[in-house]
Amino acid sequence: MAVGAVPRHVAIIMDGNGRWAQQKGRPRVFGHIRGCGRVKPVVREADRLGIKALTLYAFSTENWSRPEQEIAVLWRLLKKYLVREADELHRRNIRFRVIGEVERLSPDLREVIDKTTQRLSGNTGLQLTFAVSYGARRELARAAKLFAEDVARGRRKPEEMNEDLMEHYLWTAEMGDQAEVDLLIRTSGEMRVSNFLLWQAAYAELYFEDACWPDFEVAHLVRAVNDYASRERRFGSVPEPKATSKPPVGQNAQPLLPSISLELC
Ligand code: FPP
Repeated sequence: MAVGAVPRHVAIIMDGNGRWAQQKGRPRVFGHIRGCGRVKPVVREADRLGIKALTLYAFSTENWSRPEQEIAVLWRLLKKYLVREADELHRRNIRFRVIGEVERLSPDLREVIDKTTQRLSGNTGLQLTFAVSYGARRELARAAKLFAEDVARGRRKPEEMNEDLMEHYLWTAEMGDQAEVDLLIRTSGEMRVSNFLLWQAAYAELYFEDACWPDFEVAHLVRAVNDYASRERRFGSVPEPKATSKPPVGQNAQPLLPSISLELC
């Protein structure tokens, strides 16, 4: 991707809700409530910036070990967000999906998720995805299991497995090319990827923001996108040679492959 481009797929680890609340002497769930309020302006701004896919890490497979009350608040917030925002998402032509172990969620939350997903499924704008009960290791193990089942049923041969086929077995399969994460943002100053989109973010640019998620403003997103635009992505290759107005000619020309000694020094 050229320097200066808008990232196509941005993924965000919305971290620091609990610490933010505790710093204010409030219960952790207060941070989640405030954090939930940050989702709407960030989605709007992502849409305005021309980002094509936005994936938000709302709940990890590891988060199930949190106190039941905290988990219950997170589900209520998720439900409330979907019920409240569905109209606006639709007006903005935004598609919506959830990735993760949705089967672990309560039937009523699943119903809201399904309704919202279905209602927005015909939209062609920003792809908004919430990762819920999501873990990348779980996703990869599940993919291996699904492929093994296809081999056992004679639908696939082991030698058919390659990087493209692998993507068909991931939760992000429906995103096609857009599944590849360009920019991965994590708030709260922590520098980890925490089991988030490990396959899809293999070549993502990482951006760590000191602000906790409840303090994450639209300006923070713009800063991250501008920072991304200033980076040169090489995907393991070497930079393109800079175009020069005059190709080197004559005696002073640099040979394309200068003869160098391969002696170890
Ligand atoms: C990480 O902060 C955040 C979460 C585990 C939940 C994120 C959820 C929301 C922002 C609200 C959900 C709403 C929608 C609409 C997706 P933490 O609790 O791990 O913070 P800490 O590291 O300070 O403890």
